[in-house]
Amino acid sequence: MQTPRRVTIQTLRQKKERGERIAMLTAYDATFARLLDEGGADVLLVGDSLGMVIQGHDTTLPVTLEEIAYHCRAVVRGARRAHVVGDMPFMSYQASLEQGMTNAGMLMKTGGCHAVKLEGGAVHAELVHKLVGAGIPVMGHIGLTPQSFHQLGGFKVQGRDPGGRQRLLDDARTLEEAGAYALVLEAIPADIAREITAALTIPTIGIGAGVGCDGQVLVSYDMLGMDESFKPRFVRRYATLGAQIQEAVGKYVADVQNGSFPSDAESFTVAESKGAPAAIEPAAYSSVGTK
Ligand code: KIV
Repeated sequence: MQTPRRVTIQTLRQKKERGERIAMLTAYDATFARLLDEGGADVLLVGDSLGMVIQGHDTTLPVTLEEIAYHCRAVVRGARRAHVVGDMPFMSYQASLEQGMTNAGMLMKTGGCHAVKLEGGAVHAELVHKLVGAGIPVMGHIGLTPQSFHQLGGFKVQGRDPGGRQRLLDDARTLEEAGAYALVLEAIPADIAREITAALTIPTIGIGAGVGCDGQVLVSYDMLGMDESFKPRFVRRYATLGAQIQEAVGKYVADVQNGSFPSDAESFTVAESKGAPAAIEPAAYSSVGTK
């Protein structure tokens, strides 16, 4: 199979110029990364949302840099075409410029991602400028910034008042000037997102920010319907994998209990081996990394 051409920050800029929308999804492991990549996602974000959907926390706050780096390595192994972004977790860049530089460098070096994302506006402009100067592409993230969950008083739509609206516009412009190559706009009114998108030359990627952005991002577990009980308004479900997995597991459990699994065809015999140990192809265990 021919290796597809990797999506780069330049590809994303060109997409905006051509009016082609960007499709971004979160990914946390190699198998999902391969599936999402082959499905055509342009960007895979190893988001700190993994704290909620993988680790089972109520917020993204407990996630560590080492955990993001670990998941980045897996995603990079699974993605052949997509641009892979590693999320800078809570308190990995807020304390000082030096801390932010060191930790973003660590994520690029040990995680193997192609860019980092950090939450917050103008307050991080100097860090963004320095990272870009060091050769680290930075994706910004404004609006609802989940790492400020307690400061914001919960997961709430931002920018509804005139002051908040102006702050979003100012933050977006400042981050672009500082060198950010793209901007996530999370949970803000659609008309503000459209205005920000028109004001910037870098692409905007919306989540709960309406259709006027240059691209969209969703948490893959949400759009695949892994959790029946979680369906916020901005999520569209494209599958009901949670229910399908439960159904499959139910059938497996029944087959184990009634003795119909494994069958003879799913078992080994001495005769087949002709004296030599039966060879089991690695591909029989996993399709990731064997092609
Ligand atoms: O952590 C994450 O998954 C994110 C996206 C929802 C944008 O930041």
